[in-house]
Amino acid sequence: MPKPTHHILVCTQARPPDHPRGSCSGNGSKEVFMRFMMEMARLNLVFKLIVTESSCMGPCAFGPTVVVYPDGVWYQKVTPNDVAEILEQHIIKGQPVKRLLLPDAVWGP
Ligand code: FES
Repeated sequence: MPKPTHHILVCTQARPPDHPRGSCSGNGSKEVFMRFMMEMARLNLVFKLIVTESSCMGPCAFGPTVVVYPDGVWYQKVTPNDVAEILEQHIIKGQPVKRLLLPDAVWGP
């Protein structure tokens, strides 16, 4: 297997339904992760990148959170219907999907 060009992390952290921070899993991130698996195969990217589940990465209120390395690009509120666009536009064409970018202001000072 060749060294992957990109590593995509999909937060699949779960919390109880009444937890004040909510969770990416509670907002459908497992379905997002599964869509990445399906779309990677469809686009023949299986040997180009790696997609793994992660625990909480911080911006829970903006989840499902997806991060693409080595680019350091953070995506917010990703749905299964966004996955093909991320792969086709960002991974294949090198252009991050602007409408899904997590604002830097989320992180505070
Ligand atoms: S639960 Fe996903 S970023 Fe916190």
